Amino acid sequence: MTVPGYRNVPAEEWDPAATADPAEAEEFLRLCYNEVSRLGPVEPRLAVVRAQIAATGTYVHTTEELVWGAKVAWRNASRCIGRLYWRSLTVLDRRRARTADEIFALLVRHLDVAGGGSAIRPVVSVFAPARPGKPYARVWNEQLIRYAGHRTGSGVVGDPRYASFTDAVRTMGWRGKGGPFDVLPIVVQGPGEGPRLFELPERAVRQVPITHPELGWFERLGLRWHAIPAISNMRLRIGGVDYPLAPFNGWYMGTEIGARNLADPDRYNLLPVVARGLGLDTSHEATLWRDRALVELNRAVLWSFERAGVKISDHHTESARFLAHMRNEERAGRPVPADWTWIVPPMSGGATAVFHRYYHEADQRPNFYLDAEAAALARGVGMRPALVAAPLAA
Ligand code: ARG
Repeated sequence: MTVPGYRNVPAEEWDPAATADPAEAEEFLRLCYNEVSRLGPVEPRLAVVRAQIAATGTYVHTTEELVWGAKVAWRNASRCIGRLYWRSLTVLDRRRARTADEIFALLVRHLDVAGGGSAIRPVVSVFAPARPGKPYARVWNEQLIRYAGHRTGSGVVGDPRYASFTDAVRTMGWRGKGGPFDVLPIVVQGPGEGPRLFELPERAVRQVPITHPELGWFERLGLRWHAIPAISNMRLRIGGVDYPLAPFNGWYMGTEIGARNLADPDRYNLLPVVARGLGLDTSHEATLWRDRALVELNRAVLWSFERAGVKISDHHTESARFLAHMRNEERAGRPVPADWTWIVPPMSGGATAVFHRYYHEADQRPNFYLDAEAAALARGVGMRPALVAAPLAA
């Protein structure tokens, strides 16, 4: 099987110099006007778009097209288990923002809209599309909120995933506190400009201290996690038009934090620490100390978020919702592209219903794509020194 975007098969490479493909534009517009009947007949719109592409190499989406395109991109995100609510996505049209300052202010607004109250709303902010061959704005960070990884003589303090990114922002003038949960600055690169650092205001970064419903010592581990996962380096492609800056968020499923971010050996690597707290025998694998530590760590994450009033869901509930989504889509006559290796939760896979079946593997558009260059920037590699000379902005 060689479907782009599945099993290490790279997605089709993006050529920022290419003009909009009229066939892809037409395919999207037909889908959009067919699914959203109040938009009326598609034929007059197709004529306008064809003419725009012929004259300028691209075309401009109406607000309605942009909104529907973003929702369908979520619906098509084959790695996402949380797609039941794809229609409820809040789409913020930010295409007019130009400068790095404007962009940063709107990123802060994004976090406010997503999680300003107690609920967490799925939101995408869509910034200006790339025009063929022209410079475009981007954010280097993988997510709007992430923790630094500080290299020290005795290993990395913080999130090792971001150790190189932390090195890079340090060369640009950033100084963290040196703690395990220092929120990284955002690197915004305006079109044709160098990158600039921005520090998120504290009120925009909701965080939850991790405690355990029964184990008092858990609190003393000093763990926490941020409330909102907001991916900021994927390109949104709608009808042949690319939006390189379109950060989006949902709410967390507990295992993302408790079974990956805090547990993976190359992340916070906390299973040995939790096992020690539980007094488990770690001398051989068959005691299942890792599994027992995982369960308590994940209970702690879910309990802490719930107690703080921050929306989160467990993997059993989210699995059942995904199957409900599949039933809805089947009724609508649409195939559901899904990647088993991402859909099945990273703990107790077989105890969830999503484990026990196969899925339709397809690269359907609109969609979100991670480009190799964006991935490299987010990992702190491939940052050219010439770009790394801008002053620190507040
Ligand atoms: N797994 C990523 C993280 O832990 C977030 C991916 C998106 N997750 C979501 N629930 N929308 O930060």
